[in-house]
Amino acid sequence: MTSKSAPVDRARPVAEQALNHSGVDRTSIGKLVREFYAKVRQNERLGPIFAREITGDWEPHLEKMTDFWCSVILKSGDYHGRPVPAHLKLKDVTEADFDIWQALFGQTSAELFAPETAAVFVDRAERIAASLKLAMFFRLGPAAPGAGQ
Ligand code: HEM
Repeated sequence: MTSKSAPVDRARPVAEQALNHSGVDRTSIGKLVREFYAKVRQNERLGPIFAREITGDWEPHLEKMTDFWCSVILKSGDYHGRPVPAHLKLKDVTEADFDIWQALFGQTSAELFAPETAAVFVDRAERIAASLKLAMFFRLGPAAPGAGQ
């Protein structure tokens, strides 16, 4: 066994490479997911949104989110869902709710991981949140005068 890190593949964008930081594996990612959703459930704004959607056992959601983050961070390929439709149906979520979500996620990542590792989780979450927000909230403005509609 060697503790030497795998070489960084400079030919591929960083977001496509599996993170190779020590202490980042399915166990620690599962802990992040569980501690994050414990905070979400206690939050006065996000708690009720999740309580309406997840009415029974939380375990399948926590496992799915662990698959999701293992796919994002470790490129494990464990997650096969579709995040956009799952969020489009949440009619009462606002852009400000995403700020709360991201603050709680950043706080939990910082509690569990070294700063440079937490920064990678936060960066990935920000990128995915941006694309979810685009799908949920972006609307074309009114047609320009003379546009024919
Ligand atoms: C205010 C912000 C957000 C709210 C209120 C929210 C809420 C939810 C809810 C209620 C579900 C469905 C749970 C279930 O039935 O299993 C869900 C699923 C999910 N969320 Fe979010 N979410 C938010 C932001 C995010 C962000 C920023 C990410 C990623 C970085 C994310 C990733 C996911 C994924 C991967 C699923 C599973 C989709 C599937 O495959 O079914 N969510 N979210």
